[in-house]
Amino acid sequence: MGDECKAGGGTSCDIGAFWDERYRDEAYAFGTEPNAWFRACIDELPPGRLLLPGEGEGRNAVYAARHGWRVDAFDPSPEGRRKAGALAGRHGVTLDFRCCLLDEYALEAGAYDAVGIIFLHLPPERRRAGYRRLLSALRPGGALIAELYAKEQLELGTGGPRDLGMLYALEEVDEDFPGVDFTVRRAIARDIHEGRLHQGPSRVIQLFGRRRIS
Ligand SMILES: C[S@@+](CC[C@H](N)C(=O)[O-])C[C@H]1O[C@@H](n2cnc3c(N)ncnc32)[C@H](O)[C@@H]1O
Repeated sequence: MGDECKAGGGTSCDIGAFWDERYRDEAYAFGTEPNAWFRACIDELPPGRLLLPGEGEGRNAVYAARHGWRVDAFDPSPEGRRKAGALAGRHGVTLDFRCCLLDEYALEAGAYDAVGIIFLHLPPERRRAGYRRLLSALRPGGALIAELYAKEQLELGTGGPRDLGMLYALEEVDEDFPGVDFTVRRAIARDIHEGRLHQGPSRVIQLFGRRRIS
């Protein structure tokens, strides 16, 4: 629990190997149900094209695909990709799931109706450029969905990076996601029960917004 991603600043191989260790078990590290915030948001949207970066073992991707979304996802962990494929197969859906880092993914600018950033924590020196890159993949009017552990999570130890620099703060939203009109932008406490790695009282940032039509 709570031992996520000291490897955040490394190469795709370092990060993939770090997460492979967590995903090697047959049990799904974050469970097979979607993240609750992601689910609440996606259930309100008409299906279209969805991008899920850092999608781990595929729980959010499979949920969306089952509900009619065309899903592109990626993660540097081959084990994560393998389990995402197995979960998709169990539900009779297909995903375009690549094995790579955000920096390596060939993003299609303006192509997506929604982008979901679910616990994809980036090192401080890569965070702004990384999230802005994801934002550029949204079409104007497209939906940005995010849930990230807040800085206050550090002392709880119930999930997320054990590194203050990789945890998130509301103050960072404007610089990371310029040109988004947010309808939800909040820091809250909530109980999280997602597999064995996210368990217990937690502090998170939740975002929902639309890329401005300029
Ligand atoms: C906490 S897990 C969340 C997985 C998934 N989003 C979910 O909610 O179940 C974080 C994931 O981000 C991935 N990750 C970390 N750094 C990344 C990067 N730079 N580019 C792409 N994925 C990354 C890891 O491999 C890991 O699977």
